[in-house]
Amino acid sequence: MAYLTLLFLLLLIKFTSSQQISNPITTEDCNNRWIYIRNLPSSFNLDLHAKCSEHPLFDDFCSYLANHGLGQKTHSKSRSWYRSDPLLLELIFHRRILEYPCLTNDPNFANVIFLPYYVAIDSLRYLYGPDVNSSFQHGLDLFEFLQSNEPEIWKKRMGHDHFLVISMPVWDFSRPLDNDPPIWGTSFLEWPEFYNVTILLPEGRAWPWQEHDVTYPTSNKELEDKQEAVERICVGDKEGTKLLE
Ligand SMILES: *[C@@H]1O[C@H](CO)[C@@H](O)[C@H](O)[C@H]1NC(C)=O
Ligand SMILES: *[C@@H]1O[C@H](CO)[C@@H](O)[C@H](O)[C@H]1NC(C)=O
Repeated sequence: MAYLTLLFLLLLIKFTSSQQISNPITTEDCNNRWIYIRNLPSSFNLDLHAKCSEHPLFDDFCSYLANHGLGQKTHSKSRSWYRSDPLLLELIFHRRILEYPCLTNDPNFANVIFLPYYVAIDSLRYLYGPDVNSSFQHGLDLFEFLQSNEPEIWKKRMGHDHFLVISMPVWDFSRPLDNDPPIWGTSFLEWPEFYNVTILLPEGRAWPWQEHDVTYPTSNKELEDKQEAVERICVGDKEGTKLLE
């Protein structure tokens, strides 16, 4: 576990926050930090975005897909502020990890395996849509894929080296498997099949060792506008003062 934690810290703090790494990364720097990204069918990720306006009872989130999931810029002149939606954390992370310098194409060589499955977006069909009555089954199709497609990747460490990111709080995925009649949530995180997988998500539970909290991407429009106003005033743009009013 220690190396996983170290890896995440490096990933989240060092590499994603600064792209101006002055010294090129050497193979030695990547020791014990190699990541392999599993190639999942597009039904587990990209296809879910293609349907961004079709999820029942849920707002259209298409405009938030812009700029690799960061959303639209707060203003056409804004250089660094975006109107992000927390639901897009899975895409934001997926896009960023492609720039991680210690990626490997060889799953046997990797220290950890990333599963680019957009759990939260896929859960919308169970939470609000036609699959509401089978929401306890959420995740079984992914597990089946991992067992039938290159199963040796999972078997090597029984999933202990796998991790994924979820955009929504744990309470949406922790419905007991035997709850009848169904209550809110899917059972994705209740299946023993996924107990070995490390999960990064906002609002994890305190007791399962595999859940690790990450922050929500900001989505506070008002705050963003004020931040942007300050930024624009600093570069001498008088329009910025209007935004603060
Ligand atoms: C789910 O089950 C309930 C109770 O059996 C039923 O009334 C409802 O129509 C079902 N919903 C869907 C989307 O199948
Ligand atoms: C999880 O790991 C344990 C050993 O730590 C193993 O017995 C179990 O089969 C693994 N679960 C899956 C679904 O691979």
